[in-house]
Amino acid sequence: MTFNDTFLRSIRKESIDHVPVWYMRQAGRYQADYRKIKEKYSLMQICEIPDLCAEVTLSPVRQHNVDAAILYSDIMVPVKPLGVNVDIVAGIGPVIDNPIRSLADVQALRPLEPENDLPATLETIRILKNELNVPLIGFAGAPFTLASYMVEGGPSREYHKTKKMMYSEPKLWQALMDKLGDMIITYMKAQVAHGCSAIQIFDSWIGALSHDDYRRYVFPTMKRIFSELKDLNAPKIYFGANTSHLLDQWTELDIEVVGVDWRVSLDHARSIVGDKFALQGNLDPVYLLAPYDVLEAEAAKIIDQGLKQPGFVFNLGHGLFPDVPEAAVTHLTQFIHDYSKRRLSE
Ligand code: CP3
Repeated sequence: MTFNDTFLRSIRKESIDHVPVWYMRQAGRYQADYRKIKEKYSLMQICEIPDLCAEVTLSPVRQHNVDAAILYSDIMVPVKPLGVNVDIVAGIGPVIDNPIRSLADVQALRPLEPENDLPATLETIRILKNELNVPLIGFAGAPFTLASYMVEGGPSREYHKTKKMMYSEPKLWQALMDKLGDMIITYMKAQVAHGCSAIQIFDSWIGALSHDDYRRYVFPTMKRIFSELKDLNAPKIYFGANTSHLLDQWTELDIEVVGVDWRVSLDHARSIVGDKFALQGNLDPVYLLAPYDVLEAEAAKIIDQGLKQPGFVFNLGHGLFPDVPEAAVTHLTQFIHDYSKRRLSE
């Protein structure tokens, strides 16, 4: 079994024979096999059983021939050992019964000790390192996105409690950012030490902040996280939704890949971030519900834009969702490989 390192080669802007692709949420409820596993086990339970967790991580690689695997876990998994009572509720998302409301709550958060707190996750990475023929991507949630769940107590549309804390108690807010920053740095180092070849920081809800609020309340923590991970032997991808107004600030971060959401064109993202970074993105996942000719035309447009400069990874502009037909994901992957091979050999 030869190792397919196209994903890492493309990020390093080396020569490639096809555009690498993987999908956010590529392991999940759109897969019939996954739904069967979910009849017996919760997400948190799967994460506690390394053989099963590795199997779930591997399944989309076998099924669609994608060029990278992403560790099956959730952004809230490393938050639990800090002392946060989080549960992932089906159809809702993370729910927390002891939300963060005071400085005492933040001070009570324990530092993460990955070997003691998350042995099953690290064991899953070790298993996958031996079984995969593509790179394994590790990940963490970013501080704002994690804090939004920890402060609101669950999913939110407007993040009123989170923003209220940010604006009215900036010291408390910064203490929370510091704790989460420490956790993320420790966790990412442990994931790479055990076998992850790249990491992605998910800042899914960061688009809720204005350009200036991001600068003031979140950017310093992002700057610290990525500079402390600078020498990590793994490229760093930073992704968020609704982020076109923030991308100019991301160019100051020690990252290798900018994850682009589906609302902006890759051309526009490139015009903001320049040619230093690789781009990853950015098909609107809803195209997977469209007729194949429409899906292919949109994917081809994205590939044409992505290939204008070295450093491109195909992905969605946000995660796969339960209604997506499995066959459409296989079809899209094959199309991306075939079409980009033709383009690259022209
Ligand atoms: O395949 C992969 O991408 C790896 C697994 C993964 C999960 N969550 C598994 C999961 C990853 C990378 C995540 C990250 C995550 N979790 C994010 C960032 C990515 C994004 O989508 O923006 C966020 C915001 C969360 C928090 C979270 N967890 C939400 C909003 C939900 C969905 C709630 C629902 O039921 O629709 C979850 C649950 C979750 N995490 C599921 C999966 C496969 C679905 C429910 C389940 O299968 O139990």
